[in-house]
Amino acid sequence: MSKRTIVAMPGDGIGKNVLEEAIRVLEAAGFEANYVEGDIGWEFWKKEGNPLPDRTLKLLEEHKIGLFGAITSKPKDAAAEELAPELRDKGLVYSSPIVGLRQHFGLDICLRPCRTYKGNPLNFIRRGPNDTIEEPKIDVAIFRQNTEGLYGGVEWSNPPKEVHDTLMTHPKFKKNFGDVPKEEISVSTRIFTKKATERILRAAFDYAKDNGYKSVTVCEKPNVIRETSGMMFKMAQEIKDKDYPDIELWNTNIDAQMMWLTKNPENYGVIVAGNMFGDIVSDGFAGLIGGLGFACSAQMNPDSGVAVFEPTHGSAPKYADYDVSITNPIAMMESACMMLDFIKEDEIAKKIRTAIAEVIAEGKVQTYDMKKMRGKPDVVKNGAASTTEMADAIIAKMK
Ligand code: NAI
Ligand code: MG
Repeated sequence: MSKRTIVAMPGDGIGKNVLEEAIRVLEAAGFEANYVEGDIGWEFWKKEGNPLPDRTLKLLEEHKIGLFGAITSKPKDAAAEELAPELRDKGLVYSSPIVGLRQHFGLDICLRPCRTYKGNPLNFIRRGPNDTIEEPKIDVAIFRQNTEGLYGGVEWSNPPKEVHDTLMTHPKFKKNFGDVPKEEISVSTRIFTKKATERILRAAFDYAKDNGYKSVTVCEKPNVIRETSGMMFKMAQEIKDKDYPDIELWNTNIDAQMMWLTKNPENYGVIVAGNMFGDIVSDGFAGLIGGLGFACSAQMNPDSGVAVFEPTHGSAPKYADYDVSITNPIAMMESACMMLDFIKEDEIAKKIRTAIAEVIAEGKVQTYDMKKMRGKPDVVKNGAASTTEMADAIIAKMK
């Protein structure tokens, strides 16, 4: 069989460090692939006025599978200022290349698993009966709708007259906002379609079924956001009744869920939500399993087979220029394992995950976050493992 080609998109800042180490681990585990580099991020915005060049889209169209580090995004004004002089005044507007990738390839299924590693000093603990300390084992897979909802980008400040006129036909808008001057109104829409909602729900139920989870929790707010959250929950009920009778369907509200996840996180299995609530609840659970150094994700279009795997963290610019990289590469490596799951390289994924688990359980090699140090250039001198040393330790376990 010919070797697979992976589009490696390091992006900015620490994205470059963690991706490099993840690829080293993939190679050490025996994953045979060619890597082509895909340009993405701030550097290309500054130089070319486009943080997501067409050539990168073409690479992904051709090879389908992408590994992505992280990018830097800055507010509108900073983006305009940092543009190369010859590109200014051309009306170029910065927009996030990650959102661009999601929209372009319809990567509507986002999966963010959050699992406890035994021995991780950052694991969530709580007080049990008689002042005991409990460390619940968390094993949650969060499915986030990735392309629409509140992040769909349909929004206005001082909406056009026809939009405002249409809003005025809604009795509640007329009653509560009818007297507010149009110029003083900003509107961000939350659009859910049946098609995308069904896709994310089915992805969640299928995952629960295939991986032996007993429940799927829809985490929205249907009692208040009746149309969109309401539609999602109703569809979930129908899909469950028709095709997944053996899986329990739970319904939680996002606000209550944020409280419960620190009380009884071990009760949850698969969670599914719209774009924004999925973003929130996945960050909440990630905090219980070690935070950004451990939070991985997949963004997939199962129809076209295009998928991009990335850690949840950003480019952490303040660490990017350290002589020795200090950030934790495990989130990136876990994302690479999700890639292996997607392309059914189960053995290699297991090998890497086992090695990561062993290094964490042993507790000898820990990055600064695991040591609860403040991120400074001297952490390595003071006993924390560098990004490279963590990768070395994981590679050593696979030999
Ligand atoms: P960030 O995730 O880059 O960093 C926040 C803090 O988390 C860091 O200062 C560091 O203390 C810690 N951290 C992050 N990754 C870590 C790792 N692997 N190991 C150990 N500690 C880690 O988020 P921030 O500072 O809000 O944003 C920085 C830049 O990243 C911004 O330009 C932002 O727009 C961008 N960003 C990009 C994302 C992406 O590429 N998907 C996601 C989030 C932010
Ligand atoms: Mg987030």
